[in-house]
Amino acid sequence: MSSLLWAKPGMDIDADIQRFLAGEDVLLDREFIRYDLRASAAHAEGLQRIGMLSADELAAMQRELAAMDADIAAGCFVLDERFEDMHSAIEDRLIERLGDTGKKIHAGRSRNDQVLVATRLWLRDRLRHAGALCHEATGIALHRAGAEQQLPLPGYTHLQRAMVSSTGLWWTGYAEGFLDDVERLRHTAAWIDANPLGSAAGYGVNLPLDRDHTTQALGFGRMQVAATSAQLSRGKFELAALEALGSALLDLRRLAWDLSLYASAEFGFVALPAKYTTGSSLMPNKRNPDVVELLRGVYASVAAAKSEVEQLLSLPSGYHRDLQFSKGALVHGFGRGLGALGLLPGLLRDLEWVPERMRAAIEPSMYATDLAVELSAKGMPFREAYREAANPANWAERDPATSLAARVSPGAAGDLRLEELLARWRGLGPA
Ligand code: ARG
Repeated sequence: MSSLLWAKPGMDIDADIQRFLAGEDVLLDREFIRYDLRASAAHAEGLQRIGMLSADELAAMQRELAAMDADIAAGCFVLDERFEDMHSAIEDRLIERLGDTGKKIHAGRSRNDQVLVATRLWLRDRLRHAGALCHEATGIALHRAGAEQQLPLPGYTHLQRAMVSSTGLWWTGYAEGFLDDVERLRHTAAWIDANPLGSAAGYGVNLPLDRDHTTQALGFGRMQVAATSAQLSRGKFELAALEALGSALLDLRRLAWDLSLYASAEFGFVALPAKYTTGSSLMPNKRNPDVVELLRGVYASVAAAKSEVEQLLSLPSGYHRDLQFSKGALVHGFGRGLGALGLLPGLLRDLEWVPERMRAAIEPSMYATDLAVELSAKGMPFREAYREAANPANWAERDPATSLAARVSPGAAGDLRLEELLARWRGLGPA
C-alpha cells in the first residue's frame, strides 16, 4: 500500500488490520473515483476563488485531475490495493505529479465529505438512468396497449379464472406502475440533489469555502447547508435511492412472474423469443425462461441492499466508519437493478402472445359478473342479480370482444384512457 495519508512517524501500522479496514473498499471505489475526481476539481476551483490556490496552481491541478480521469477511462490507471481508498489515490497522484501544489488539494476538505459528494453524484446519475429506462419501458407498454387493445386474456384473482381481461389492460397496468416509478425515481433524484462538499469532517472549517460555487459547478440543485446534516444524510439518502429503485423492481418482479407463468405449457399464453431462454444441461427437451426468473430475483438483491444500509444507520450523529459498508450495498443493488431494468424495454418489445391459448382458457363462468351487472342495470337489485348469475344454468358462451367493449368503467378494457396515460408519459419526458 502507498503511504497512508494520516500516518505519522513511528506509528505502528499492522498489515492485517489495514486489510480489514480497507477490505473491498478500494475495489468498490472504482465505481466512484471518477465522481471524486469531478468533485476534487470543483473543490480546487473553490480554493482558488478564496485565495488558497493561485490561478496557475488551479490550472495544474485541473490538468492532472483530467489526466487521471482519462487514464482511468482508458484503463491505464487501475485503482487497487496499493491505495487505502480512492481519496488517497487522487491525492497521491497530485503530489507525485505536482509536488507542493498537489499537497494543497486537501485544505478545507475531509474524506468524510469527499465520499459523500462522490456517492451523491453517482447515485444521482443512476437514479436518472433508472428513470429513463422505466420511461422507455412505459412507452413500449403503452404502444402495445394501443395496438393490442382487443386481444382477450383471461383475468385471474387468487390464480382462479375470474373475468375476461385483455392484453390492453395487462399492458396499461404495468405502464401506469412504471410511470409511478419514473416519478418516484425522479423525485428521489431531486430529493438527494444537495451538495455535501464543504461540510468537511462534518463540522465545517475555518475558511470561507465557496460552497455556492461547488454546488453550481457540480450541478447540484441546492447546498446541504448544515455541516452536520451532510453526515446525517449518509445512508438515509442511499436508503431512499434503493427504495425508489426497489419500487420499479417490485413491478418488474410481478411482470416477470406473469411471464414465467404465461410461458409455461400449463398456461401457454406467451411465447418468449429463444434468446430469453436457455437449455437444460440434462433434459434435452427443455427451454427455460431463465431471463425472466433472474429479473424476478433481482428484487431480492435490492431488498438486501436496503436492509444492509438500514442496519448500518443505527448510529449517533457524525461520521462513523460503519457507513463505508453502504457503498457495497449500493453497488450491488444498483448494479443488478439497472442490469435488469436495462433488459426490460427489449423484453416488452419482443414478447409474443398466443391468442388461441388465451381464448381457449376463457370459459362461460367468466361472464357471470358481466351478467349480474347487466341484470342490475336493468333494474334488478344487485344481490338478486348476483344470485341469478351464480347459477351455472344461466351461463353461456359469449363473445369476449363484446364483453370487453361493454366494460366501460374508466380504466377498464372498454375505456382504457390511453390518451390520459400517454399524456402523463409525454409530460414526464424521456429523462
Ligand atoms: N472509505 C471511507 C468511507 O467510505 C472513506 C471515508 C474515510 N473517512 C475516515 N475518517 N476514515 O466511509
